[in-house]
Amino acid sequence: MGDSILNPMDGAITAPIQRTPDDLSEADPRSYQETENLEMPDGTWVISDDSKFWLYRPDFLCSLLYSRHLLERSSPAHTRQLLAGALTAGGRTHTREGSAVEIRLRSRESYIHRLAGTYQTTHATPEVMRDAAERLRAAGNVRIADHFLHVADEETGHDRLALKDLEALGVRAAEFVRDVRPAGSIALVQLFKGYARSDNPIAVLGYVYVLERMALFQTQAMIDAIEAIIPRGIMATRCLRVHSAVGTDARHVSESIEVISQLDDEDRISIARAVFETAACRTPTDYPGDAAFRDVLSRYEN
Ligand SMILES: [Fe+2]
Ligand SMILES: [Fe+2]
Repeated sequence: MGDSILNPMDGAITAPIQRTPDDLSEADPRSYQETENLEMPDGTWVISDDSKFWLYRPDFLCSLLYSRHLLERSSPAHTRQLLAGALTAGGRTHTREGSAVEIRLRSRESYIHRLAGTYQTTHATPEVMRDAAERLRAAGNVRIADHFLHVADEETGHDRLALKDLEALGVRAAEFVRDVRPAGSIALVQLFKGYARSDNPIAVLGYVYVLERMALFQTQAMIDAIEAIIPRGIMATRCLRVHSAVGTDARHVSESIEVISQLDDEDRISIARAVFETAACRTPTDYPGDAAFRDVLSRYEN
């Protein structure tokens, strides 16, 4: 049945229990009350309950067995699995090589290039969230508009962390980030702005979820690995630390899931689709390699 059955995974991206999705169809009324089914734009179905998710790509005939089903009243546990499934499905549309999880940075130069990208995404967040809040407020959605303003406030100043890290590395940061604008980050920011201006700006929560959830893949060991490639005694990992599994922003993911779980199913569908699209957003890297980038960098070094 179908052309691929992937292992069930929970929101923490582990594989606790092996089941096939066959018994998750509408023919099983108990499952139907406990699971959510949502088709992603590439035809992958995310099937989730409150402790794990499955990804399933049925063939044409079997796809008729599946129909969209979201619980009338969701819960943070269900929403966590649905969004983790959408993120994983989006991530699987491109090869692992160069995926957003991959942050194996081998050089000081590649780390500096990455900081330029992080600057772009962190810089955009407060303003875009405030714009989206205004539009939601105008449409009468005061509660979510207030939440967006809360996110904007919490994220304000995080772009400064990237600038400080760059300065610490001897780079004239303001000039550098004005000129060096990594394509992948620019594409993400465009997507984010598009959601904010769309008919349903609530989709920005999907984008925000992906960036913050991906940040949780950055572990203390990864921070240590970066520390090892920058000169001793220099503090240049402020931004990475805040946006890591050990950072102050780590709680933002569960806060966001709590808010999303209280939304109606149409809004949760918009958000889950935005999660998929953000995770699938992939632009070929424009990092030119360490040697070529060292030349670029030399124009901005103190
Ligand atoms: Fe942040
Ligand atoms: Fe955050």
